[in-house]
Amino acid sequence: MCGIFGYVNFLVDKTRGEIVDNLIDGLQRLEYRGYDSSGIAVDGDSKDETLIVKIPGKVKVLKDEVERQKIDRKPVFDNHVGIAHTRWATHGQPRVENCHPHRSDPKGEFVVVHNGIITNFHALKTLLLSKGFKFESETDTECIAKLYKHIYDTNLKAGISVDLSELTKQVLYELEGSYGLLVKSTHYPGEVCGTRKGSPLLVGVKTDRKLKVDFVDVEFPDTTEQAVNHNANAQKDLGLLPVAQGDNLRTSQSRAFLSDDGIPMPVEFFLSSDPASVIQHTKKVLFLEDDDIAHIYDGELHIHRVKKSAGESTTRQIQTLEMELNEIMKGPYKHFMQKEIFEQPDSTFNTMRGRIDFENNRINLGGLKSYLSTIRRCRRIIMIACGTSYHSCLATRAIFEELTEIPVSVELASDFLDRRSPVFRDDTCVFVSQSGETADSILALQYCLERGALTVGIVNSVGSTLSRLTHCGVHINAGPEIGVASTKAYTSQYIALVMFALSLSNDSISRQERHKEIIQGLQKIPEQIKKVLLLEDKIKKLCDESLNDQKSLLLLGRGYQHATALEGALKIKEISYMHSEGVLAGELKHGVLALVDDKLPIIAFATRDSLFPKVMSAIEQVTARDGRPIVVCNEGDDVAGNKAYATLHVPLTVDCLQGLLNVIPLQLMSYWLAVNRGIDVDFPRNLAKSVTVE
Ligand code: F6R
Repeated sequence: MCGIFGYVNFLVDKTRGEIVDNLIDGLQRLEYRGYDSSGIAVDGDSKDETLIVKIPGKVKVLKDEVERQKIDRKPVFDNHVGIAHTRWATHGQPRVENCHPHRSDPKGEFVVVHNGIITNFHALKTLLLSKGFKFESETDTECIAKLYKHIYDTNLKAGISVDLSELTKQVLYELEGSYGLLVKSTHYPGEVCGTRKGSPLLVGVKTDRKLKVDFVDVEFPDTTEQAVNHNANAQKDLGLLPVAQGDNLRTSQSRAFLSDDGIPMPVEFFLSSDPASVIQHTKKVLFLEDDDIAHIYDGELHIHRVKKSAGESTTRQIQTLEMELNEIMKGPYKHFMQKEIFEQPDSTFNTMRGRIDFENNRINLGGLKSYLSTIRRCRRIIMIACGTSYHSCLATRAIFEELTEIPVSVELASDFLDRRSPVFRDDTCVFVSQSGETADSILALQYCLERGALTVGIVNSVGSTLSRLTHCGVHINAGPEIGVASTKAYTSQYIALVMFALSLSNDSISRQERHKEIIQGLQKIPEQIKKVLLLEDKIKKLCDESLNDQKSLLLLGRGYQHATALEGALKIKEISYMHSEGVLAGELKHGVLALVDDKLPIIAFATRDSLFPKVMSAIEQVTARDGRPIVVCNEGDDVAGNKAYATLHVPLTVDCLQGLLNVIPLQLMSYWLAVNRGIDVDFPRNLAKSVTVE
């Protein structure tokens, strides 16, 4: 939900145009996070102004605008700072005045880009209006830029000089809500501050010289108490900030020199919401934590904290990304979604790689090992997620209950929080998320942590908030998923959850045969997915002949295939904008049957498992009303005979794994329906890949 990107260099000879190119490249890799509008801010033509270019539309529109404005002139400073933003609108329509960056004043003394929501922005805006500030937009973000200037001026009037990190601390004390935030200022040339709370932010470091340290010391404020007092005072009277007290907060002298010999060296820093946008420049990154302020100046990176909490780490590691550039490129595919659908033989294999001993039928999940005995003794397992990730929980709930004999409930994160559902110390809460940054899931995680439950993360993005805050977990290793519609993450989450259930029951003698059956089934999945992918042409034809012009579609499934029906319907809705509904086949007769006639397209999942006869009876209820379903069934089956409109055959696997194969035709169908309707598949309207707002 919005992507932010920043660039700072030191002793590196780059024109302003080259810096702008870096910013635009970075934004293009973040575009999946929002694509209503985009913008950049770079050093202006004189030292007291900032150049801002922003425009509604995708990053390509910004690129054209930047080219039109010919801003590739010699920059005024030796070190250059640029910040950039691609937006998914929360406050204010995607008009030019609402696009980021936002500025404190027409010259751009302070300029910010922001991902998140400032919940007290009405109060802040009222205050700033009373101080004479004039607002240009309807956004919550603009008040941050104005607040910077207000606090800066207040300090100045009191004769106090504050550096950019201290100023940022003072601004943050006033903000409520969530943010990933970058600020640049004409008062602090060559410097940038980046900070986060609830929205991701990382710093990439690029230099040809060896880094002296692979960590950065964290500077804490004096004491927690002081920070809290400061906060309380500041909130009490927003207009009269206790600047002197604020100044006391800056005491630590810890510094992070990044040169190997103390001699200044050329270095470039990239700040971003997602490692995918820095990988083409550097693999050395530092993931910021909530309340961290990264202050970059003179080729150095300093981390400060807004407040100190007990037991916090005082260093931030510089990590090496394992991601490769080609993983985030489209290759021969037209869209990321198509690439990711076709990657599933590999991504599912990678989820299992090194974790399953196929000879001895055992599972080894390193990230869970020391917690398994605690989880086995828990009172219940609560799976919590949103959207597609929630469907992967639904798809595996039954096998969890069967193998572990522990009651399992599956919760949508937002609803779970709305109900303030009771959670106890002996509960195990499993959080499933592709991005690891979904706000609803993170809030639910915090809620469960506060209540002392054991928390497990099943996450794709390494270093994400969910993977860091959970006690233990499994990375699904699907590789970067860029298409807004989740495909390969679903199948990998599904497998990771099945492996989790298996590892909880590894030692059960009575379940050995069932284990063996499932593990052997898992081994065949990547090859079987390859086979299902061969259905693409048939599905394309089916779309052309009978689905492209339809308004609505019903998907019927039961047992393990209920989740497949829900996931298939979600894919079709979000990508092709066709209304579609996943229905539990047993519920058909309780109301939905009224919709059935000879026109409504229906897809029924009738693969072989213990519920097959019951699904067949639902199909008969449909055909008796002149419905002609498209049936997904196993190879060799012809379940609805000439009453079926079409049949899609998929290989047979173990009941609890069949959903991994059955979902693929629906992914392909949603893709082709969208392409045929002329929709930009990777950028469906109104959506964003990572939903970092509530
Ligand atoms: C649908 C889709 C979304 C996400 C949901 C949760 O294709 O991608 O429904 O599954 O927003 O996101 P994560 O898994 O990142 O927590």
